[in-house]
Amino acid sequence: MIDVRRHNAAFCRDHFLHHCEEQVRRAIDSHDMLRDGDRVLVAVSGGKDSLALWEILGRLGYQADGLYLGLGIGDYSDESGRYARAYAADHGRTLVEVDLAGEYGYDIPRAAHATHRSPCGACGLSKRHLFNRAALEGGYNVVATGHNLDDEAAVLLGNVLRWDAAYLGRQYPVLPASAGFARKVKPLVRLGEREMAAYCVLRGIDYQVEECPMADGNRHLGFKEVLNALEDRSPGTKAAFLFGFLEHGHDHFAAAADVERDTLAPCSVCGSPTTGDVCAFCRLGERVAVELSRKAE
Ligand code: AMP
Ligand code: FES
Ligand code: ZN
Repeated sequence: MIDVRRHNAAFCRDHFLHHCEEQVRRAIDSHDMLRDGDRVLVAVSGGKDSLALWEILGRLGYQADGLYLGLGIGDYSDESGRYARAYAADHGRTLVEVDLAGEYGYDIPRAAHATHRSPCGACGLSKRHLFNRAALEGGYNVVATGHNLDDEAAVLLGNVLRWDAAYLGRQYPVLPASAGFARKVKPLVRLGEREMAAYCVLRGIDYQVEECPMADGNRHLGFKEVLNALEDRSPGTKAAFLFGFLEHGHDHFAAAADVERDTLAPCSVCGSPTTGDVCAFCRLGERVAVELSRKAE
């Protein structure tokens, strides 16, 4: 049914499904991601990775609820939300929903416009903030996201090209809980994009196939292309790059992340931990509000 060149293996349907579930189980066990009694919130975008993650966690016996964030990116977001809701309804799962425009008065296109920043910057910081806030408010102690091997290898390449020590120190499949932060886990780190798409197809999970229309020119897409070209020539390069870093490189940067963590104090507006006085999410909201009121005048 499908070959996975980096494992030098070809699988039939059942063994492929088992392979994916086994890779997630191994990631969870080897990094001690989840424990008995955890309340897990899976961030579900409606795409293949996060829906597959929700499915696999359920099959491995974890009772996880979903979280969908309405980012207001036109038809793309409307449709993504429909996939997330349909999965929840079909599988009798609980889906928590947070709508950026409804609750904070702006959406990602407006935020990008007002701040003259790339939409992905505003989007990424909003997601991180709102995943954590939704978890803490809902009494969940763990947030799981669908970042896969391709995503993590691309982020690593970006961090290495700039030798960004604090980011490298924070790049790990599990970030323990700390004051004001739920634990964050990425159980799909051992699986590639192509495997997740195949998993959804074989399990009959419908997902949003379109990529975000605002992501054009996103740096990470370039990094993914470069890594795919290398992977094509020598299968296994991506996994060796990421897992080699996690095993041999990450610890050397942990101190840089610790220094940053030690300077965290509650945001004076929302109370979330931040290195400044006002957190990046609240500053974004303020800038958008100023810009919108200027336009209204
Ligand atoms: P991305 O940042 O789009 O690469 O997505 C990475 C992960 O973040 C996904 O696998 C999901 O777990 C989560 N995610 C992205 N967008 C959303 C969303 N709109 N609502 C909930 N979770 C999301
Ligand atoms: Fe965030 Fe596209 S999903 S900018
Ligand atoms: Zn804040």
